[in-house]
Amino acid sequence: MLLLGAPGVGKGTQAKVLMAEFAIPQISTGDLLRQHRREHTPLGMMADELMQQGKLVPDDLVNQMVAERLAQADCDRGYILDGFPRTLAQAAWLDDYLERTESAWPVVVISIRVPYDDLLQRITGRRICPDGHIYNIYTQPPRVEGICDVDGKALTQRNDDTEAAFEQRMKEFHELTAPVVPHYQGQGRFAEVDGLRSVDEVTEAIRTELERLRAQASESIETAGNR
Ligand code: AP5
Ligand code: MG
Repeated sequence: MLLLGAPGVGKGTQAKVLMAEFAIPQISTGDLLRQHRREHTPLGMMADELMQQGKLVPDDLVNQMVAERLAQADCDRGYILDGFPRTLAQAAWLDDYLERTESAWPVVVISIRVPYDDLLQRITGRRICPDGHIYNIYTQPPRVEGICDVDGKALTQRNDDTEAAFEQRMKEFHELTAPVVPHYQGQGRFAEVDGLRSVDEVTEAIRTELERLRAQASESIETAGNR
């Protein structure tokens, strides 16, 4: 499953709910890059400044990182890609990768939409723990201020959650990521979901769309079989 959408639409929040529900891993390219940064790997050091400025990391580096992650055993039963592909070149690479590796899993794409002003509030109010649990001081506060409910670690703000970096991220999104939507729209496994609702309501809308896409796919298989 691919989760697409602008910064702050709730990709990570929804991916965490869905990964528990479907027992498949969430692969967030943003989280993987932040991990590289924390570990001071060459990729992390190269990506650091670009991420802080809200610019995308070069396609070949991100594709390589994704290939290494998808080769791990926990991806054998499927996975949720959060924030990838983010350019047409990444989408073409993923098509090719799935074909080359003879992936048994059909791709379904969910794109989440939220208006700009709400995104800005979500981004500036976001707090995260080092293990990636996500909060929001306005809409999803932790039980104890500044402390993760799950592991008791201190919450921090991402260094790209400033207004300036957010504007750059939105610019990159419109110029480079928005064209990925038509790439998948034509493939019949694409759905758009309104993200301006409670977390539970958005999850429910995603479940409904997944069910609709599944029914649509089996109908077309039956029709083809009857011909
Ligand atoms: P990444 O980490 O992927 O950031 P992003 O796409 O900008 O998305 P976010 O993580 O900011 O938002 P989200 O949609 O996950 O929202 P969340 O659930 O946290 O990428 C960071 C950087 O890494 C990029 O800028 C780039 O430099 C690099 N990078 C990553 N992938 C790349 C790629 N493929 N190619 C090249 N470079 C790449 O929610 C946001 C807030 O809203 C939270 O506070 C949450 O609590 C709250 N919230 C969520 N849902 C709701 C709701 N329904 N109602 C109210 N509040 C909600
Ligand atoms: Mg995220």
